[in-house]
Amino acid sequence: MDALLSAYELGPMPLANRVVMAPMTRSRARDGQADENTATYYAQRAGAGLIVSEGVPISAQGTGYLYTPGIHRETQVAAWRRVTQAVREQGGRIVAQLWHVGRVSHRSLQPDGRAPVSSVAVAGGQAFAYHPDGTPGNMAASRPEALDEGGIQAVIEDFRRAAANAMAAGFDGVEIHAANGYLIEQFINPILNTREDRYGGATLESRSRLLLEVVDEVNDEIGAERVGVRLSPYNELQEMPRHADTAETYLYIADALERRKIAYVHLVVQGQVMSSGLLARFRQRWHGTLISAGGLTAEQADRLIKDGLTDLAAFGTPFVANPDFVERIRHGWPLASVDRSAFYGGGAEGYIDYPTYPASLVPA
Ligand SMILES: Cc1cc2nc3c(=O)[nH]c(=O)nc-3n(C[C@H](O)[C@H](O)[C@H](O)COP(=O)(O)O)c2cc1C
Repeated sequence: MDALLSAYELGPMPLANRVVMAPMTRSRARDGQADENTATYYAQRAGAGLIVSEGVPISAQGTGYLYTPGIHRETQVAAWRRVTQAVREQGGRIVAQLWHVGRVSHRSLQPDGRAPVSSVAVAGGQAFAYHPDGTPGNMAASRPEALDEGGIQAVIEDFRRAAANAMAAGFDGVEIHAANGYLIEQFINPILNTREDRYGGATLESRSRLLLEVVDEVNDEIGAERVGVRLSPYNELQEMPRHADTAETYLYIADALERRKIAYVHLVVQGQVMSSGLLARFRQRWHGTLISAGGLTAEQADRLIKDGLTDLAAFGTPFVANPDFVERIRHGWPLASVDRSAFYGGGAEGYIDYPTYPASLVPA
């Protein structure tokens, strides 16, 4: 495990090891802002070389789930500041995952009950919002409206402001969420995005334009060395249609990000990304820091680093039940199993009550 546990220089951020805590929405932010439990949760997991926060909505429009902690109001920025301080006190590093869900939302969450927005007016995905009687629950996302050019500029501006807010809240940087079927991927996908304007699906250049304009704006605001992008080639989450252009699309994006010299690309490598060879091809085109994530064991991650296929490896589920995940890897201690029913919502249970490996079991 020596490769995975070795130190790494991520631009201006020295990391103690190459283990990244993957972004995980936990839906426990009662009034849409981080709280004391959020600070405890992340501080407990600060042994990761880098933490990527749960998805952080950049605007009310960009919110698709109740109880997710945003970063567009002053009180939310102050709330996140307590979290970043708690992580720093434990010697950790944390970036904010900036999130606009696009069509994966519901009118009950949108300002003035308006429709959510997307590349096109085609519904898809599941939101966590309010039923007509006011009770919260999972429900089909509302039919979105296609953003016009003015609306697109407003979204880009929201990303910029959220990045500035993240720095004001003490984050080490930001990760632009362009994965898992949310707004930016709703533009990248050529089957869904049938627009005919300069953000349309007909060419690689136009359907990548929203992502790249967001990156340029955020780079301009906080410096490219503090900006990461998360991508999920072959993703079908949130009803994203499969398409034959996946490799071509993501290699084009690799080249475009290479020119922009951002801090890292975070690839969800589950499923076909590895088996199709796209990971290796991506690596040849993107020479900056690469984080791989998705169903990895520590052993597999260590091997990927040794084989030169990735620099860092992100783990989601293992971090939920193992706040001391890195120590468990270091010592070969067994991993605790996770209670999936407590992934989303609720309080401290299944959130901040997972113990570290018991000292009584550590051989003397
Ligand atoms: C409870 C939960 C919440 C998640 N929330 C997010 C999220 O907010 N943003 C994101 O990009 N991925 C999210 N993911 C995906 C993870 O970042 C990761 O890619 C996935 O869990 C696969 O990695 P693993 O097998 O190590 O868990 C979430 C996963 C889980 C289990």
